[in-house]
Amino acid sequence: MTTILKGNIVSAPACGRLDVTEHGYLIAENGVITGVYPVLSEQYAGASVEDYGDCLIVQSFADLHLHAPQYPMLGMGMDLPLLDWLNAYAFPTEARFAEPDYARTVYRQLAGELVSCGTTRVCMFSSLHTDATLILMDELEKAGITGYVGKVNMDRNGAPGVLEETTEESMRETLRWLDACQDLRHIKPILTPRFTPSCTNELMAFLGKLAAERDLPVQSHLSENGAEMDWVRQLHPDCRQYWETYKKYGLWNDRTVMAHCVWSDERERQAMKDAGVTVVHCADSNQNLCSGVAPVRRMLDEGVKVALGSDIAGGDHLDLFDVTAAAVRASKARRMMDDWNTPFLTVAEGWYLATSAGAAFFGEQPGFAAGNSLHAIVLADDTLPQSRTLTPAERLERAVYRRQEGAVQAVWSAGRKIYAKP
Ligand code: GUN
Ligand code: FE
Repeated sequence: MTTILKGNIVSAPACGRLDVTEHGYLIAENGVITGVYPVLSEQYAGASVEDYGDCLIVQSFADLHLHAPQYPMLGMGMDLPLLDWLNAYAFPTEARFAEPDYARTVYRQLAGELVSCGTTRVCMFSSLHTDATLILMDELEKAGITGYVGKVNMDRNGAPGVLEETTEESMRETLRWLDACQDLRHIKPILTPRFTPSCTNELMAFLGKLAAERDLPVQSHLSENGAEMDWVRQLHPDCRQYWETYKKYGLWNDRTVMAHCVWSDERERQAMKDAGVTVVHCADSNQNLCSGVAPVRRMLDEGVKVALGSDIAGGDHLDLFDVTAAAVRASKARRMMDDWNTPFLTVAEGWYLATSAGAAFFGEQPGFAAGNSLHAIVLADDTLPQSRTLTPAERLERAVYRRQEGAVQAVWSAGRKIYAKP
C-alpha cells in the first residue's frame, strides 16, 4: 500500500538542522518511508494523495519518560522536593491502579490525549500492578501508539500497606507480566526498576539477569535530586557514583534509558557515553520539583545521547510542543547560571531531541529517512496573525513556543493514520 502526504514537509535530519520541502510529498510503502520529494514522479500518476494544502508535515513526538498512573495528578502537588513528593502525592495516586476498572478509564483517556498531541512513541512507567500495566499496554496498542511500557519494580521504601510489593512478588509478577504481553504488536515491555532506593540488591540482580537473558531494554531514574543521591550513596557505599548501582547489576548498556541526570558530573556523563545510555531530559519536572537544571547542552557537546520526556506528573505538560519549549528555556537558564559560558539549545536542536533523538532509541534514523516507519503530524498553524509570510521553519518555531489548541490535524504512527481532527 502506498501512502502519499502532501504539504510543507519539515524534518530534523541532524541536531540543529531542519530540512524543508515546501509543497512536497512524503511517501511510504506499507508504512515504511521511501522518501521526501519536491515533485511526484510518473510512477505515482493516478495514486491517491492526501493533500494537506499549506499545512506543515513534521515528525511526530517520542516521549521517552512519563508515568502513566500519575496522569490523574497532572498539574497538582508540586510544592515538595522529590522524595517527599513521591510519598505525599505519587505513591497514593499510583495505588489507585490496583483497581482494573479505574485503570481502564484513566489509561484510555491518556492514550487518546497522547494521540491528539502527536506523541506516537513512548517509553513509559506504569505502576507496580501487573493487571493495570497490561490494561495500559492494551489501551496504547488500541490507540495506535508504539513503544515501551514497564511494570514498575519497587520492593522497598514504598508506601506501606498502600503501594508495596515483596521481592518474591515483584519477581513473580514481572515474569507473569512478560508472559502476558507477548502478543502485542507495537507496545513492548521494558524492565523498570523504579530507582535504586526502591529496589533491593536481590531484585536488581534478578532484573539485570532477565534483561540479558531476554534481551530486554531497561528504564529508570538517575541523579535527579541531591537527597536522592545521598540516599543512594548510603545504600551502596561500594559504589562511587549512582550510575554504578545500575552497572553493578547489568542494568547499564545501550538499551538503557535514564531519566533526569540533572546532577550527572563529567565522570557519570562519560560512563553514559561509553555505554551508549540514553539520557531523558525532563525540563518541566526538574523545575517543578526544584530538582535542578540539567546540563543538556554540555551532554550533547560531549556526545551523550539525549532525548526528551514529559515526566508527567512531575512534569505538568503532556504535549511535547510544550516540553520542547521548556527544554529550550531550561538550557537558557543553564547558560545564565554558567556565567553565559555555555550555548543554549536552539529551537531546531530542541525539536531534534523531541523527535529524531527519541526515535533513535527505537532504531530509527534521524528525520524522515528512507527505511523509517512513517510517524508524522500534520499541523495547521494559521490562526495567529502574521506580519509577513512566515517560512516553514519560522512556523515550526512558533508552534513550539505557542502551541495552538487544535493545530494538530492528523497523526500517523507506524504507517497508520491514527488521528484525524474531528
Ligand atoms: N524517582 C523515582 N520515582 C520517581 C517518579 O515517579 N517521578 C520522578 N520525577 N522521579 C522519581
Ligand atoms: Fe520520572
